[in-house]
Amino acid sequence: MLTLDSLTKRFGDKVAVDAVELDIPEGQMVGIIGRSGAGKSTLLRMINRLIDPSEGQIRFGDVNVTTLSGSALRRWNRDCAMIFQQFNLVPRLDVLTNVLLGRLNHKSTFASLAGLYSREERLMAIAMLERLGVVQTALQPAGTLSGGQQQRVAIARAMMQEPRLILADEPIASLDPLNAKVVMDSLADINRREGITVVTNLHTLDTARTYCQRIIGMFEGRVVFDGTPAELTAAEARRLYGAANDGFSEAMTSTALADDDNASTGAPTRSLEEDRADTELAKQRAEALV
Ligand SMILES: Nc1ncnc2c1ncn2[C@@H]1O[C@H](COP(=O)(O)OP(=O)(O)OP(=O)(O)O)[C@@H](O)[C@H]1O
Ligand SMILES: [Mg+2]
Repeated sequence: MLTLDSLTKRFGDKVAVDAVELDIPEGQMVGIIGRSGAGKSTLLRMINRLIDPSEGQIRFGDVNVTTLSGSALRRWNRDCAMIFQQFNLVPRLDVLTNVLLGRLNHKSTFASLAGLYSREERLMAIAMLERLGVVQTALQPAGTLSGGQQQRVAIARAMMQEPRLILADEPIASLDPLNAKVVMDSLADINRREGITVVTNLHTLDTARTYCQRIIGMFEGRVVFDGTPAELTAAEARRLYGAANDGFSEAMTSTALADDDNASTGAPTRSLEEDRADTELAKQRAEALV
């Protein structure tokens, strides 16, 4: 169980997150929605301890995350993986190396510095890339991949941490609809199969409705909705987005995720078939490395 107790973050006079109380049981897939500036990223960044709360507590099981430091904090950063909108891979390093970086918090400083990864770790990385449908890119510099491929690599890197919790801050905001679907399907699959808790900020209501069993709505730093997709009525959504009753339509917050949607927004990306066709050959090539 992840518990947030009166969690607050102030930046000067601005209260970005305002006395948030939440219990998130292990294994839930939770979507956090709300308009820009509502405090969604600040909330995730506190949970991950990228920033320190001004007040309140974060607990995970019987660990008080708020006060961790040193090796205990590093352990938390391993248990709590983070996925970002802009992927945060090292572009000039190959994909396999990027994924292996997810092991850093499992290793001694010397082994990390020396880039020493065991055969098991390399096989684990390849298996994860294969599961996410990007093993054929293992030897390419990460910067040469499409956005959707890079986000899948970032998920593989997160999984190498063997996390207990995955936090994702708008993981599909930079992706076209097809890649957005692939990435959300991957997160949902990890949540279902491994039972890892996923907490993800999303800027589209329909994605939250499709993928999350629980939706948390934030408005001006506070939690103003906490319920199932069915409970998130149009009236609730209007309240959440703070729009006048006649000026709000759910489509305003929507990115179509349907397979047949052609309204691609970004650069051309490889099809899933192309990805799969290359997979076998490239897997053999990647395995030759280990
Ligand atoms: N480092 C910072 N310094 C000062 N103010 C900040 C800082 N980070 C966030 N804020 C402010 O805190 C509030 C919440 O920001 P946050 O980034 O958490 O919102 P968000 O819900 O993630 O928005 P978006 O949907 O645009 O990503 C905003 O008013 C923002 O300007
Ligand atoms: Mg944000």
